[in-house]
Amino acid sequence: MEASHLLHSGYFNPTLRSWHGSNTLLNINQLIYPVFVTDLIPDESSEEIPNFPEQRRYGVDALVDHLLPLVNKGLKTILVFGVTTSSNKSSNGEYASSKDSPVRRCLPILRSKFPSLTIAVDLCLCGYTSHGHCGILKTDGTIDNPASIQRLAEVALSFVQDGAHIIAPSDMMDGRIDAIKKILILNNLASSVAVLSYSSKFASCFYGPFRDAAQSAPSAGNRRAYQLPAASTGLAIRAAERDVIEGADMLMVKPGGPFLDIIKEVKQRFPHHPLAVYQVSGEYAMLWHAARANAFELRAAVIESLIGMRRAGADILITYFTPQLLDWLKEELQY
Ligand code: PBG
Repeated sequence: MEASHLLHSGYFNPTLRSWHGSNTLLNINQLIYPVFVTDLIPDESSEEIPNFPEQRRYGVDALVDHLLPLVNKGLKTILVFGVTTSSNKSSNGEYASSKDSPVRRCLPILRSKFPSLTIAVDLCLCGYTSHGHCGILKTDGTIDNPASIQRLAEVALSFVQDGAHIIAPSDMMDGRIDAIKKILILNNLASSVAVLSYSSKFASCFYGPFRDAAQSAPSAGNRRAYQLPAASTGLAIRAAERDVIEGADMLMVKPGGPFLDIIKEVKQRFPHHPLAVYQVSGEYAMLWHAARANAFELRAAVIESLIGMRRAGADILITYFTPQLLDWLKEELQY
């Protein structure tokens, strides 16, 4: 018998196909929806983001209105990013933990309006520092590591006190997971919050639209001193290992599509840590524009790209396509 005949008998109908891929299928529980909350505009308004099609920045009240129908459709988890005016930015990013910041203002409101929603908060200083770097700088322009992780830990504590369920440090400073865990333990809060470390985060051109959204591009220099070189598997694995040792509850690979091999290797090395993969703003824009130009149908391309990440080892998918996926994944299996 021809081997190919045997193979085809395994997937001639949708139910059989789903059995063959049962551990890589998509479901709504896996999705995290990144959202931008801002004080650039009044609380009840939202605004378009240049170069980031169909994504918006929301005032605190507008965010609640935007999320309500999505929560009703089954949205389980969001990842909150804060965006503030340049007048609130300073060299050490004080405003990140201000009571008046859009993130701190929205957390108690989101908790009370959406009791079933899990709220992750991105932790970084780049949206709050006048220089736009993710940590505090020394006078020579290099990162002041002890000062940075101390500041990040304080900001994390403030988010947890406001009701965040997950703290997601994206700053990439060495030692920040340890600093965050320690301050939470000291304040008796460690068991009510999980730390999702952006453990293997590459220096990537695919963050372009996000930097417009968060208005967080560095004013001088770049992030290559603290984000990983795209060519290095070794550093990506060592960074994940470092964060596991420091107590991270969950790991992340970011971006997703160009780094599928890293997803696979991190998952194989750390099978007991849930692994999140971030389909970042540039990956989103690439799929969106290609579909617009009739290269393919958006829905099929998004689902195929996310299944690829699942096959590589992703447990959690952070994607700006979450609102559409809440509809798409409710319908009969198409893949
Ligand atoms: C902040 C941060 C970035 C992203 C998430 N958190 C930008 C960066 O590190 O330059 C990118 C997310 C995206 O592109 O969707 N440090």
